[in-house]
Amino acid sequence: MARIALVTGGIGGIGTAICTRLAKDGCTVVANHHPSEADAADAWKQARAAEGFTIATFAADVSSFEDSTRMVNEITEQHGPIDILVNCAGITRDKTFKKMEAAHWNAVINVNLNSVFNVTRPIWEGMLERGFGRIINISSVNGQRGQFGQANYSAAKAGMHGFTMALAQEGASKGVTVNTVSPGYVETAMTLAMDETVRNSIIGGIPMRRMAQPDEIAAAIAFLAGDQSAYVTGANLPVNGGLFMH
Ligand code: CAA
Repeated sequence: MARIALVTGGIGGIGTAICTRLAKDGCTVVANHHPSEADAADAWKQARAAEGFTIATFAADVSSFEDSTRMVNEITEQHGPIDILVNCAGITRDKTFKKMEAAHWNAVINVNLNSVFNVTRPIWEGMLERGFGRIINISSVNGQRGQFGQANYSAAKAGMHGFTMALAQEGASKGVTVNTVSPGYVETAMTLAMDETVRNSIIGGIPMRRMAQPDEIAAAIAFLAGDQSAYVTGANLPVNGGLFMH
């Protein structure tokens, strides 16, 4: 039986690469997107179909517990219980802290961190009962080292790994692993939105002198999602071109 994988933020830059990689690896993949992206999700689904991938899309605002629970229930009814959850939905509201408003803080904490509770919670008990699960939280190098202009984002991303380490302990004896992947700078719409001078100066500080391709991040998720990674839990796997080592 194919494993069923849900990727939140699945139609985004990194999310798309994760969806296609898990599909190539034989999973039945479901991509979540925000309800406001319905048209983009339809176009995305057609583009994936043209590449030979059948990937279902489900709308839900993952910053809402109610909407996330509804989505999980619908996916379970239509496809079966979720075996692999990749918490990939994320946004930025970069501001120096003196210019950061509560709305910038709350949006990033709600979408990037609270979503991890909202989506994992309705899936968790089923994984424990079935004795198998893979939860993979997509954090960031900037959650590990902090980043100028990202007090909100760095806090949320660091929080994700705290969640990983705690939950890994609760799942360890039940066949459910929980891990973090911390990408560095990846070529996506999110990094393209940065001012060009800022972006070039960041790239200049990366030992590999380039950003990652989304597929290079997806490879780390595929590794952690596989049956062979049963003994890896509570880890934080960096994929950052040498930008941060510890
Ligand atoms: N370190 C120290 N000082 C810095 C700095 C840095 N890295 N960057 C800027 N500054 C200084 C400037 O020199 C300037 O100093 P003065 O006031 O003395 O002249 C000051 O900060 C500018 O402050 P402002 O509040 O006016 O900043 P701004 O509005 O020009 O820009 C910003 C602030 C939007 C946060 C901009 O710095 C920025 O885009 N930074 C990049 C943030 C970043 O890395 N985002 C990652 C997005 S991708 C992502 O998040 C994915 C992932 O996981 C990696």
